[in-house]
Amino acid sequence: MLIRRLEITGVRNLSRACLENLSPINILFGDNGAGKTSVLESIYLLSSARSFRGHKLKPLVNIDMDSCVSFAEIDIEGLGYQPVGIKRFKASAKPGVIKVAGQHVKSASVLAENLPLQVINADTFQLLEGSPSVRRQFLDWGVFHVEHQFYSVWKSAQRCLKQRNSLLRHARIDQPQLAVWTSELVQHAELIHGYRAAYFTQLVPVFEKVLDRLIDLDGLQLAYFRGWDKDRTFTEVLASNQQREQEQGYTLSGPHRADLKLRYRASNAADILSRGQQKLVVCALRVAQGYLLSQLTGKSCVFLVDDLPAELDFRHRKALCGLFEELQCQVFVTCVDHNDLVGCWGDDTSISMFHVEQGKISEVVAGGFAPAP
Ligand SMILES: Nc1ncnc2c1ncn2[C@@H]1O[C@H](COP(=O)(O)OP(=O)(O)OP(=O)(O)O)[C@@H](O)[C@H]1O
Ligand SMILES: [Mg+2]
Repeated sequence: MLIRRLEITGVRNLSRACLENLSPINILFGDNGAGKTSVLESIYLLSSARSFRGHKLKPLVNIDMDSCVSFAEIDIEGLGYQPVGIKRFKASAKPGVIKVAGQHVKSASVLAENLPLQVINADTFQLLEGSPSVRRQFLDWGVFHVEHQFYSVWKSAQRCLKQRNSLLRHARIDQPQLAVWTSELVQHAELIHGYRAAYFTQLVPVFEKVLDRLIDLDGLQLAYFRGWDKDRTFTEVLASNQQREQEQGYTLSGPHRADLKLRYRASNAADILSRGQQKLVVCALRVAQGYLLSQLTGKSCVFLVDDLPAELDFRHRKALCGLFEELQCQVFVTCVDHNDLVGCWGDDTSISMFHVEQGKISEVVAGGFAPAP
């Protein structure tokens, strides 16, 4: 279990809330607007230093406060449970403060490394119907956690792209400079593609198995596109794009154009699957990443599932809950009515229940509600 205790100050309507007795499965229930998603948002802050509901800090921080804090005790590999905290200020010019095990940390990637996290919410439909960048982020999440070199190579490729695009925008292009950045970009692009392709090859069979447990969608196919023509080298593609790139002022192909394609019966899956089917496919993709992470690294990840019952009938809710139990990861699930999840979990599963009401959180213990400290 990665998170043992959670303290939230000033995130949306949660002026001050504390969740003490966390379990592998944690259910947060309550009326609309109570603050359930805000609890998930606070956990997400601990993994990425930002919200999953947009980049603006002003709406994230409680209307009457200047800053928000999310603090937790997190099981860090080799160190045991350690305090991890993040403070963000409403004034966006003021940098946030990140502390891990008592030390100030500069990069949010340290948070992501210590707390691998998967979110399943209304936005996750974007994984099927959104732009390629959403699917790239999904793929790169996995690559980041299993391939330690990936992040630095990815950052270098971003730098090359920026430099190259800036040269391409000039009226008179500095060709020698362009050749330097092109050559560097090619090297990084090949590495990124190598990491992504290796990860993708391992993900596919796990995804197929997980999907099979959730829903019968025989014929659903997941494919990886590297961002440039599969039959030519990246150097050849860049050479043939030269004229158009100079006209348009940016790099047309490359790892920044990679994508995952999901097809079902010769159509784009997003165009043909029902809402519930789409949710199950997205869940299968994310749960598969959780399985693969633990297989390849021994690490487990935390799942944040906002409104789990939405779109799913009882049989499919139960199948999804069963997968989470099997994965032995920690899960935070929200729902309006906790009765919607009755019968979905095994008898021996450790579950904590929290009632969220107007920004206050009470742990539900046998026989009634106990206010959280
Ligand atoms: N910056 C803020 N300061 C204070 N309150 C806020 C702020 N931003 C949002 N809120 C309020 O905080 C509450 C947080 O809602 P949240 O989305 O967490 O609710 P929820 O329990 O997930 O509801 P639903 O079931 O409708 O999804 C809402 O009532 C919202 O109006
Ligand atoms: Mg919500």
